[in-house]
Amino acid sequence: MLSRAEDAVLPVYAPMPVRPVSGRGAWLVDEEGAEWLDAYGGHAVAATGHSHPHVVAAIADQAQRLFFYSTAVVHPLRNRLAAELAARCPDPLGRVFFCNSGAEANENALLLARKATGRTAVASVTGGWHGRTVATLACCDGERYEAGARRAGMALSARVTFNDLRSLEAVLDDSTAALLVEPVQGMAGARDCSAEFLLAARRLCTERGIALLFDEVQCGVGRSGAFTAAELYGVVPDALTMAKGLGSGYPIGAVVAGPMLTKGIGIGDLGSTFGGGPVACAAALATLEVLDAEGLIANAARVGEHIAAGARRLGARIVQGRGLLIGLDFGRPAVEVQQALFGRRILTGTSSDPGVLRIMPPLTFSLAEADLLLEGLRAVLA
Ligand SMILES: Cc1ncc(COP(=O)(O)O)c(C=O)c1O
Repeated sequence: MLSRAEDAVLPVYAPMPVRPVSGRGAWLVDEEGAEWLDAYGGHAVAATGHSHPHVVAAIADQAQRLFFYSTAVVHPLRNRLAAELAARCPDPLGRVFFCNSGAEANENALLLARKATGRTAVASVTGGWHGRTVATLACCDGERYEAGARRAGMALSARVTFNDLRSLEAVLDDSTAALLVEPVQGMAGARDCSAEFLLAARRLCTERGIALLFDEVQCGVGRSGAFTAAELYGVVPDALTMAKGLGSGYPIGAVVAGPMLTKGIGIGDLGSTFGGGPVACAAALATLEVLDAEGLIANAARVGEHIAAGARRLGARIVQGRGLLIGLDFGRPAVEVQQALFGRRILTGTSSDPGVLRIMPPLTFSLAEADLLLEGLRAVLA
């Protein structure tokens, strides 16, 4: 028998020093009633801010009508959401598979790529991070993730060096089923790929019959300052995955794929009991409505620029990322800066780069809230 209820939770995460009981926009309220500024966004999830009334109402309304039915039936909200996502992704990405998380979306994109190409090997990019299923762990950069895949007998992905065109040439060959790449690498500290790198990846994948898969689980759904980062780069992958911000925190993942990957697909090839459930689809449709109505994608671009400019003025050595997925290196351990900001009740993230602090607030983050973050940074760096 465990002495405290919280000891029953397997301790795989180092918790932040805040216990939120409610939230609105970019603000959390803790058990003592104190307010915290959230530039972490529940790990880049709270796209429309915490408990956005339109999203909450859509979830409550759908829950009362029909809480759940599986993919065994057609549901109008699932169809509407698929059509909305297809319309917002670049052509010819037009068919959508729904699931529940980022890892599951990537796992299914890899399944599609292996089926379409008849090949097994996968390539990913150094610094990349793609999830905790065995197939996605095999594509994550970092010994502790790779070890998980190795112990399961899964071959690791071949690694293309980040932004290195020669490495793309060398690694991708006619045994490669897919290249899985985050246009803006979240875990690596919001490191954005160069346009040259993604354009070369596109060209080589086409020439060599390889599926180009964009993992937009973290940078997608408006966070980069465009609905898809693919748009920003003018590069169209064969499939694009999204999750995190899509349901504003209600779990949902999606693979949006083009004809290379969908043409041979039929009944039973993919599946997910909860994928595309009515409440998840209601949450995602409401999220898209809020992004549009409140101009949140343009806001992400504008406020992201403001934070980047402010960080440069504060002496940041590295300012990277797109929109509201920003990596900042102030020449001292990011964890120290993060801890000092906790002391001022401001939440930010770290990254796999010990020097890079990650900023990924709700897309509702205002210029005034950005100034509060910058003021907090100024104070802790002084
Ligand atoms: C780029 C990227 N891909 C995939 C994942 C995995 O998503 P999930 O935790 O929803 O499985 C994450 C999660 O942080 C991510 O940042």
